Amino acid sequence: MNTYVRANVTPRLVSKNKIENEWLLANKIASGFDRAANQYDEFGLIQKQVSQHLTRLIACQSVLSGIVLDIGCGTGALASLNCNPNTSWINLDLSQQMLKVAKTKLENNGEQNFVQANADNLPLLDSSVDNIVSSMALQWCKEPAKTLSELARVLKPNGDIWLAIMVESSFSNLHMAWENAGYPSKINTFPDEIQWTSLLPQSLYLTEKQSKVFRFIGQDFKALLSSITAVGASTSLQDKKPLQKTEYLKLKQAYSALYADHYYLDYHVVFARIKKQGC
Ligand SMILES: C[S@@+](CC[C@H](N)C(=O)[O-])C[C@H]1O[C@@H](n2cnc3c(N)ncnc32)[C@H](O)[C@@H]1O
Repeated sequence: MNTYVRANVTPRLVSKNKIENEWLLANKIASGFDRAANQYDEFGLIQKQVSQHLTRLIACQSVLSGIVLDIGCGTGALASLNCNPNTSWINLDLSQQMLKVAKTKLENNGEQNFVQANADNLPLLDSSVDNIVSSMALQWCKEPAKTLSELARVLKPNGDIWLAIMVESSFSNLHMAWENAGYPSKINTFPDEIQWTSLLPQSLYLTEKQSKVFRFIGQDFKALLSSITAVGASTSLQDKKPLQKTEYLKLKQAYSALYADHYYLDYHVVFARIKKQGC
């Protein structure tokens, strides 16, 4: 494991306030996923479909080999779906509890390493990994260009990055219900597809992209909101206050007025294959 880990993470010329805010937000996100870790596999049905789709896409075009870094690995879905024994995985996540579940699950899955760290500040050496994969995790990073340049740094020349990222248009029905209820939406908004695919650092280029919508259908309105909370994904990226009872009731009413008893959430996911130029 030590061969991968970089002792000194490059200092950035940013203000103390910005660093503190980023650290606080990362802690908040990690705590949300920590709380959900033990039930994540039971409730993360859409996330499971997405990681299976990404795995199929990879298998159609390539074979992962060498050192594979999974960013935001959660409970280890991607490593558990990998069939090639010639891989050494670095499962990296902000959440210690997610990593704990992943460790148990991947016990008999060949060479597996576990690192608790932030995608935006990877404790890894330059050009040290052969492939990077990530499913349903990078939408939590607020500045795609910054995250992508960190990925470019640790990836070896000619290496591949395979991503599945939830993008802006997701959950538009819930946003609309918020608007009609007369409140600003408390549902997270994520960077859009263009930000992820057109702001690549110079060393990276996009070779493949597709978009797909995954629909979660719930029994009732409560089930919709619970499906987000149950997987640890209800932490507000925009620092909004928790939902109050009166807001909940108005939101529920606004949702019913708009969509009657059709309870669904659309996850808009962009799948991308990105390559790093050779030397
Ligand atoms: C929705 S889960 C996806 C987990 C897994 N990839 C899957 O497909 O099931 C998102 C994961 O990303 C992690 N995460 C969020 N922001 C992160 C960051 N900045 N750096 C590393 N991991 C992060 C969370 O802790 C969580 O485990």
